[in-house]
Amino acid sequence: MTLPQIPIQKIDHSIPVFRPYSTEEEVESVAEVLRSGWWGQGPKTIEFEKQFAEFTGAKMAVSLNSATAALHLALAVAGVEGGEVITTSMTFVSTNHAILYNDATPVFADIQANTLNLDPDDIERKITPKTRAIIVVHYGGYPADLDRIYDIANHHSLTVIEDAAHAAGSSYHGKPIGSIAPLTCFSFHPVKNLATGDGGMITLDNEEWDAKLRRLRWVGINKDTWIRSRDKDASQYSWEYDVAELGYKYHTNDINSAIALVQLKRLPETNARRREIAHLYDEGLRELDWIQRPIIHGDDMVSAQHNYVIRLDERDKLGAWLHEHRVATGMHYIPNHLHELYKPYATPLPVTEREWTRLLTLPLYPALTDGEVNYILDVIRHYHA
Ligand SMILES: Cc1ncc(COP(=O)(O)O)c(C=O)c1O
Repeated sequence: MTLPQIPIQKIDHSIPVFRPYSTEEEVESVAEVLRSGWWGQGPKTIEFEKQFAEFTGAKMAVSLNSATAALHLALAVAGVEGGEVITTSMTFVSTNHAILYNDATPVFADIQANTLNLDPDDIERKITPKTRAIIVVHYGGYPADLDRIYDIANHHSLTVIEDAAHAAGSSYHGKPIGSIAPLTCFSFHPVKNLATGDGGMITLDNEEWDAKLRRLRWVGINKDTWIRSRDKDASQYSWEYDVAELGYKYHTNDINSAIALVQLKRLPETNARRREIAHLYDEGLRELDWIQRPIIHGDDMVSAQHNYVIRLDERDKLGAWLHEHRVATGMHYIPNHLHELYKPYATPLPVTEREWTRLLTLPLYPALTDGEVNYILDVIRHYHA
């Protein structure tokens, strides 16, 4: 290994792991909603659902206040209660909380070391007569092995729910994520690729599920407030509705949707910048044989590149070294089966258990400059110097 001869550059600010990107356009869009006098779920949300369905090539899109809510309701309409759901442990806990919210049992399958996505062979091994569904997370935005997963699911008549919290703008063999699964769940949490004050979406093509999701997100009411006001002038607001099932308060609002519409328009550009930064890291780290890049890019796959993860033996020490130099790092994720809540569902997951101790997330967000990436690479190169 060639050691750098020159000292580390200086930096006058710290670098976070994630940061939302916005301009005056989001500010204007929110101001318009505030001035309109309709802040709740209304015309901006309807427009966002329409545009998001178009963007993903889905027939329908149902907006929610988070991906956590989306996953909860997607599993509810899929009817998993009392059954088993095959899932990954290498995810944010919301993926698996959604299974528990539905009184179903999470059954953890192992991951593939090169993508950190579910291993189809292990999914197959975990199927029992009680299996109802499979939740597939596209880790970091890189699509899971969907051809094999859908073969298995179709063979055993299981519903696939895609957790696309990282994958807004990803595509698999030319098909956008959101157009493939019967139910795909997206996140618009502030650090996600399409960022709002918090939000989520389910894309789908089943009209019955669409209607049910719209009731469940609005406490079970069969007409939303905007629809009850829309046909008439405001003084003619109709207060009539029925509640036939127990729903939740999971809907979004037009303030978030106003931000979302601007973010959606810019998403191809911000995702391209994310991929550009990943490429800079790839190039810069190539010469360092003690660091590996777990996410291997296959042909005909587009990753939304939500994060940039490296794999190495001295993860904590390199993290501390970067922190010393004002660079934040993250760890995605502590495997869920190691958390107290999930211990009753724990099962040996050798790849997950080996890999997570070696993963480190480096800063990645659209406004990260080439200069900052070069600084981070410089700090990493000096680690062994
Ligand atoms: C893989 C995954 N699933 C689900 C979620 C939950 O998303 P939200 O914060 O929108 O509820 C997250 C958010 O961090 C996530 O990373």
